Amino acid sequence: MPFIDRDFINDLPNRVDIVGLINKRVSLKKAGKDYKACCPFHEEKTPSFTVVPTKQIYHCFGCGESGGVIDFIMKFDHLAFVEAIETVAGESGISVIYDQTAKPVDSRFKRYNNLMAELSSFYQNQLKQSPAKKKVVDYAKKRGISGSIAKRFELGFAAPGWSNLFDNYKSSEESIQDLVVMGMLVSKKDKENDYYDRFRDRLMFPIHNTKGNVIGFGGRVLSSKDNPKYLNSPETPLFSKSKELYGLYHCRKYSRRIDYILVVEGYMDVIALHQQGITSVVATLGTATTPAHLQVLSRSAETIVFCFDGDKAGRDAAWKALKTSLPAITAGLLIKFLILPEGEDPDTLIKRESVKSFTNRVKESQTLSSFLFDHIKSEVPFETIEGKTLFLEKTAALINLVTYPIYRQQLIEGVAETIGQNISHVEKAIEQNTLNEPPVFDGNPYEIDQPTNQPYRIDIKATSSSSMKSLMSRMISCVINYPSLVNDPESSSVIEERARRLPKSDVLVELIRFSQVEVDLTKEALLMPYKAKPRIYSRLEELSVLEPFLSEYEAKEEFSYALTAAEKYYERKSTKASISSAKTYEEQKIVMEKIMKGKVNSNSKKKN
Ligand code: UTP
Ligand code: MN
Repeated sequence: MPFIDRDFINDLPNRVDIVGLINKRVSLKKAGKDYKACCPFHEEKTPSFTVVPTKQIYHCFGCGESGGVIDFIMKFDHLAFVEAIETVAGESGISVIYDQTAKPVDSRFKRYNNLMAELSSFYQNQLKQSPAKKKVVDYAKKRGISGSIAKRFELGFAAPGWSNLFDNYKSSEESIQDLVVMGMLVSKKDKENDYYDRFRDRLMFPIHNTKGNVIGFGGRVLSSKDNPKYLNSPETPLFSKSKELYGLYHCRKYSRRIDYILVVEGYMDVIALHQQGITSVVATLGTATTPAHLQVLSRSAETIVFCFDGDKAGRDAAWKALKTSLPAITAGLLIKFLILPEGEDPDTLIKRESVKSFTNRVKESQTLSSFLFDHIKSEVPFETIEGKTLFLEKTAALINLVTYPIYRQQLIEGVAETIGQNISHVEKAIEQNTLNEPPVFDGNPYEIDQPTNQPYRIDIKATSSSSMKSLMSRMISCVINYPSLVNDPESSSVIEERARRLPKSDVLVELIRFSQVEVDLTKEALLMPYKAKPRIYSRLEELSVLEPFLSEYEAKEEFSYALTAAEKYYERKSTKASISSAKTYEEQKIVMEKIMKGKVNSNSKKKN
């Protein structure tokens, strides 16, 4: 995807009609010079959603959502930044100006993409042609996988043998190297230039990104005697488990309307549900749900239903997902939990019962708050005073992870009701509770064959309670050490834009820009321009020591975590006080203008 010209992005909001664009999606009524409607981002009966054409902004006094036309379209249409720009321009009859000077997509990525597509065809052919195909075909039949579903998911077969891929590609040194980078060939211990196939004698599941490119594979053994049961591609330049979701591409492609997205545990669950016509389903790839997953999911649907097995591991996974979800909840996002009967997963259950009973389970799934309260109740002797106190302490720690003010308030009211206390008492307990329980992440608990990936080694507790300044430092450290983090042509303009909106982000934004100029920039080259500014330079040198040391992947996770945390922190700080204090409509308008001015100023200040 090409870069969009920076000036074009900056000017676009001034060239379009915010009222017309919003009115297409939410019916607006004129109120004086402004327009009003019931807010599309939260439930309400009286309109508090306001569009101010003279300022080109919208704001909701009910839930605090506000922004310009691009923000609105991103949020309402569930689009990424670049897509929103293209939509707004398209609907306004303006053609997008792309930046011709931006560097072209790294040629390695094109090669990797082609190679992975080729491998997927290779494995699919093996499913039809390998002399050993009978056992995999029998296996697929035994699991009830239909031919058309196998085709939809491009299932394949990695035949038995240690060198099928190697033999197929040995004439090209470059392909062999690329296969190693993609994790498809593994170097033999202590032997250079000697490799074996990672996937052998397995049913192959290609993993697609949202654009439909194959970025990795999962492979299942055919016999219960072999292990590990599933083997997945390792982290590669194309594939990051903490971001990708199996089935998301197919969910978007095959669902007419996405009312909810089911998050299940396994490849086979996704496939079995598709076969029964339930297409809005994704699976994490053997890892816990991460904030990055939630971000993608919340852009795709308004309701996310985590669906887990009723055994201990499933319940633990659900609880982890809950903790990761709390900071991600915003207006218009509903998170629910469906715990299946013990020993069942969606694959077995959908085969046992009708689609209707399964979808009923989904409809009746538990809300996040009810799951939260039930879970904590079960952990304490709730009938005693001590138990209720413990309940209050435990919920307080979790409520402190919620940044969305309305949801926070609802949870507080829920706790008050559950323990029969008044709200102010609960609020006080929450204030006193400084112990932020950190969300828990882990690597894939299963894979023995490859090093576990632990992108979240950093103490999230420290970061989430720390200041904007330390988050900023953390981001800068990551960028200095790995300028490549922010020069991915797909995401860097979005990252730059997000960084630009943060207060005092000038240096970070500059570093992001410099990083985009050239591939493989060294630390020294990146800091060069600051040599003339000794104070900044010495601070940047300090920050260039990355402690603890992080791999590029880890640094990428860390960066994106810190960026999101900084946004949340800033948003919460700047809207919290003002929204609740404005009483009359006139007061509200002043507050709104102030909030927006802050945003506009910090945007235009750095325009170059
Ligand atoms: P499960 O063990 O619950 O398997 O793993 P499943 O999906 O029910 O598989 P079937 O029905 O026996 O085929 C759930 C998910 O955890 C990851 C995979 O992503 C799998 O789909 N996993 C599991 C691994 O990565 N490695 C393993 O060895 C096992
Ligand atoms: Mn299963």
